[in-house]
Parts: sequence; structure tokens; C-alpha cells
Amino acid sequence: MNKKTIKDVDIKGKRVFIRVDFNVPIKNGVIEDDTRIVGALPTIKYAIEQGAKIILASHLGRPLKDKKKAEEKKMPYDASKYSLKPIAEHLSNLLGKPVNFEDSADPDGAASLVSAMDNGEVVMLENLRLHAGEEKNDDGYAQQLAGLADVYVNDAFGAAHRAHASTAGITKYVETSVAGLLMEKELNFLSKALNNPERPFVAILGGAKVSDKIPVIESLISRKVDKLLIGGAMAYTFFKAKGITVGKSLVEDEMLEKALEIETKAAESGVELILPTDHQVVDSYDPLNSRKTIPIEFTNKGLVGLDIGVETAAIFKQALEGAKTIVWNGPMGMFEEKPFDQGTIAVAEAVSEATEKGATSIVGGGDSVSAVNQAGLDDKISHISTGGGATLEFLAGEELPGVAALNDK
Ligand code: 3PG
Repeated sequence: MNKKTIKDVDIKGKRVFIRVDFNVPIKNGVIEDDTRIVGALPTIKYAIEQGAKIILASHLGRPLKDKKKAEEKKMPYDASKYSLKPIAEHLSNLLGKPVNFEDSADPDGAASLVSAMDNGEVVMLENLRLHAGEEKNDDGYAQQLAGLADVYVNDAFGAAHRAHASTAGITKYVETSVAGLLMEKELNFLSKALNNPERPFVAILGGAKVSDKIPVIESLISRKVDKLLIGGAMAYTFFKAKGITVGKSLVEDEMLEKALEIETKAAESGVELILPTDHQVVDSYDPLNSRKTIPIEFTNKGLVGLDIGVETAAIFKQALEGAKTIVWNGPMGMFEEKPFDQGTIAVAEAVSEATEKGATSIVGGGDSVSAVNQAGLDDKISHISTGGGATLEFLAGEELPGVAALNDK
């Protein structure tokens, strides 16, 4: 990585402002998945050991946008669910030391708390997006945040695709802006896979919409990934484009031509594009009792495909054999609804087996990561990315503003 990291600067006694991505799922005040919090621990612990004064800042959800929507629809708006307080408490337990929480969303409100800090202490600010200046990348707000910092550290890989005050603007007003250790790890894994992969290089893409993944697909084809496996509802757009009946399965009609174009580009570039051969379907008129697995070409008008079938899972597994680099993003079916999680879990198992046999595997995106976690395979994957949109934009070859803004080595 060509960016300086927290290890390249002297932070002892300094106010170190660490932008983290603690945008984690919380239900009734309970954190459902703390992967992102755990992911930032090495940076936070390192800063504590070095005797820095640590100021942590993150966003959580999209509070102002949700508030506006709620007002427009005259729906209730629960402001409390956007507070980072439960996260500060959880972090305090993980670190085994107090994390002083600043209730005010105004950085000036945090100034006195920060000025009273001793070396090694940790303060967490309230959700940055409660302030209108954050998402607007407002200069004045960025300066206010910078006023709390001697050194700026961006460890929020998951938010690095956003040019916001705390991920980009702030760096104009702090002399030293460096990457955290999680950011460094993410960039090292992803850039090696994208720019210098050990081959065979196999990519697996899933999810509902092909339109979300077009830039990634094009980037992977231009980098001549050896095999591209496509599952999830997005496969139906490819089938329909070829004139295959897809029943009532999800299709993006406006993407049919694009799907054909992708197939042609893949063939011209020597990329083997592998689509499902069978799938689990339900009858759209009798969804509960009608589940069955059938070949793709047997799909009738009323049927809806909700997951890949066992034959496809076996073909995908075979395609992963001997792979040296694997990148996976997106579920193979309606993962959140059992038993339509089977295909995604089978792919998680195949990726972990290939990893045991020597592949470097990278899994990103909420559902594919959940599948790996649910199957208890998280420690069998080389790298589980904490990014959603950020991982996709990186794989699409785009520059991430939160990374571009950091000091070069
Ligand atoms: C994410 O969850 O992908 C990041 O935290 C970014 O969140 P956003 O899409 O609301 O900017």
C-alpha cells in the first residue's frame, strides 16, 4: 500500500482522531453483528499502547435522511436508534477499559472532554451523521472535527467510498492523515486480488440485481479473471437475455442487452462465465408447499427461482478446485429465508475448502459474510471484508475518496 499508516507516525501524547465504521446492525439496543467493531480493535489497541489520546468517530445508519422520509410519510421517527452509545458500551467491554461517550453531536461540545484526556484514554463521539455537515462534506464541519485532532487516522474501510467531512474533508485541516490497520489490511488483500492475483482467479457474484454489479463484472473481466460464477437472482437476467424462460423470477428487463454484452466480453477475454444449471423454485400461487429443485430449462411461467440447486452448487465447487485467488460477493439465493440459504451455505463451504487447499479467499457483502459466519467458517476464509459498497467500488477499480485523501508514503 502506498499510503502511510498509523505505524509510520509518532502518536505518543497526541490527540488521534480515528474514523471507524461502526455502522453495525442494532436491534432494540442489542448489537447483532460486531464484526466491524472487532475489526477496528487492532488500531485502537495499538493507539492505546502508544499512549495516544484516542477520539473515535463513526456514522450509524442514515438518521437525517430517514427523518426526512418519516416526516414526508408522516411516520414515527425513533431518534434513539441512531445513537452510538450502545456501541461505546460494547467497545468498552471489548477493550476492558472505559470509553467516554460524548452525547453532543456538535464537535465543539466534545472539546472540553477531549482537552481533559490523559494518554491512553478513549473518547467516542456521537453519530457523525446527526450533524448535517457530515454527508455534505461541509468545510466548516470538517474544520470543527479537525480541531479535535493532531493526527487523523482513517480505519473506516466500509465508509471509504464516501467523500464526507469525516472521511475526506477533515484531511485538509489536519497535517497528518494516515490509514489504520484495518484499512491497511483491507487494501492489501483487495489490491493484491485485483491487481496481482495468483491464478487461477475465480470470482463469485450473487445478489438480486445485475445493475448493482455491472462495474465490478466489467472490471473483473478486463482483469481477465479466469472464471466468473454468477448465482442469485441476477442470473435470471442473463437467462432471459438468452431467451430462456425464467417464470416469475426476478429480472431486470432494462439490463437484458447489457447481460448479452457481458457474455460476449467474457468470451472475447477468455473468461469462463458459469451460470446455474438448476435451481430451487416455488409456485408463485402456492409458495409454501411447492418447493422443488428443477433444471433451469424446465422453468414454467408461474415458477419463481429462489436459490441455486444442488447440481449448480456442485458445479461451482468444482470450478473452485485448484483456485489460488477467490473473491466472493453476494448470496446465491433468498438467503434470509430458510431453506433458500442452502446454495449460499454450500458456496461458503466450497470457498472454505478451496482456502484450506491453498487459495487466498476474500468474502465481502452482508449476506455472503453472514453465510460464512452462520456456517462457522469465518476462520477458514483468508479475509472477510468489512466493506459493502466500498468493497464493490474497490473491485470495480474506482478510487475511494477516503483512501485518496491520506498521506502517501
Ligand atoms: C456500509 O454499511 O456500507 C457503510 O457503513 C456505509 O454506509 P452508507 O451506505 O450509509 O454510506
